[in-house]
Amino acid sequence: MLKFKKVLQAALKKGKFMEMPTLPQPTFYIFKCEQSSPPGMPKPSCVNENTRDLFNHTAQTLMKSGLMGPVQVVRTSCLGRCQMGPLMLVEPGHFMYASLSKEKIDRIVQEHILGGNPVEEYLIPSSFWGEPVKLGN
Ligand code: FES
Repeated sequence: MLKFKKVLQAALKKGKFMEMPTLPQPTFYIFKCEQSSPPGMPKPSCVNENTRDLFNHTAQTLMKSGLMGPVQVVRTSCLGRCQMGPLMLVEPGHFMYASLSKEKIDRIVQEHILGGNPVEEYLIPSSFWGEPVKLGN
């Protein structure tokens, strides 16, 4: 630890950190709900035996397209709209996609992520996705 501190101080003194390249931010984050309810639960969840491989499909599709890095796909727990699952949230922009399938994910990657045009027909209905709650005043 002491050695690291000395190296850090020496680098700062020489202005070495000014020469380091900037690590770019991802262009998109994709938050994929990976919540799974135990069998027999009355409440639906996004992951079941039919939808289990959607996260891997998303990651592989991004990888094949050379998009991993600029696009970060993240496993999340429940996003609070279970009856519309499987779901994923694309940021920036709060684009919540519902009732996903592999075919829908492929089209979202092509049209939204690569093309910049959200796939309106796959977005969650507005009755499930109203305006954000205003906080503060
Ligand atoms: S289980 Fe996916 S939104 Fe609740």
